[in-house]
Amino acid sequence: VDEGHGVKGVSDLKLKTLPELFIQPVERRLDVTKVLQDELIPVIDLSNYEDPEVMKSICYAAEKWGFFQIVNHGIPLNIIDGVKDATHKFFELSTDEKKKYSSQNSPSKNVTILTSFNPEVDKAYEWKDHLSCFYVSDEEALEFWPSVCKYQLLEYLKTSDSLIKRLLELLIKGLGIPKINEKNKPILMGAKSINLNYYPICPNPELSIGASSHSDVSTLTVLLQDHNGGLYVRKLDSDNWIHVPPVKEALTINIGDALQIMSNGRYKSVEHKVVANGYENRISVPIFVNPRPTDVIGPFSELINNGEKALYKQVLYSDYMKHFFKKSTNGKETVDFAK
Ligand code: SIN
Ligand code: FE2
Repeated sequence: VDEGHGVKGVSDLKLKTLPELFIQPVERRLDVTKVLQDELIPVIDLSNYEDPEVMKSICYAAEKWGFFQIVNHGIPLNIIDGVKDATHKFFELSTDEKKKYSSQNSPSKNVTILTSFNPEVDKAYEWKDHLSCFYVSDEEALEFWPSVCKYQLLEYLKTSDSLIKRLLELLIKGLGIPKINEKNKPILMGAKSINLNYYPICPNPELSIGASSHSDVSTLTVLLQDHNGGLYVRKLDSDNWIHVPPVKEALTINIGDALQIMSNGRYKSVEHKVVANGYENRISVPIFVNPRPTDVIGPFSELINNGEKALYKQVLYSDYMKHFFKKSTNGKETVDFAK
């Protein structure tokens, strides 16, 4: 499995059984007996986002579930469809075209294609290929991102910016911090990257994992998933899982570790995992909204000045990220780095 052929190359062989390399230890698969059928993460209508009830629902969802879906979010459907279409087009490129973005070959360190999450340390490979694009500037993206998707991704990043700002503003208001300003903007949304995830048709989905359990390191993640489903979220303080069903025209929002830390544990960065399926190639496209690598993050001073005891120490965000990427994903252990 090299970056050009990817897991898609294996899927295209149409094998009857899953190759050994992809068979996960039982504890990394999805235990279907632990999936709760009658619980649903909230679906929040943003058409009237200035309504205090909307803010309440968002903050409650961030505390109780760490995940919610939003509808009437203001991003035009044709932009979303363009991103989905471009994602399929990218992974359908020839092996040679895709290899140009491997970490050895890529023309920019900000754009790389990977199979599996962390092939060096993972015992079994994830059933997933992905392209990761760290946004620096439009010029850099236009020069180095793959031409089959760069325009669509840039347009999506641009149109989602005000949505992201609105969501973060509602979330910090819930903590008693009135506004996004010059001081807190960089740590809340100073850096962004966008990933294209591709989970090809899998011969034995139940033995494999598309993305193993992890929490995101972002402040906030805006996830575009397709109609296939397969994303499962851990119910807080339990060993149960809840499916995030595809909702027409919705985007899924989840809180990441950085906002858990900044909110001093009030908002929850929750574990999630993805299972591939046996009949259709699934795609998803997360935008990771992050602090800048050079930012130091910790609980908001407003909370500590208010008498809260800090549950996390100050950490340099690039150190936090390094810690996350150097190990195999395993649930939520990264956040302990800030304790
Ligand atoms: C992820 O969180 O790693 C991907 C989510 C998804 O594919 O739905
Ligand atoms: Fe994630």
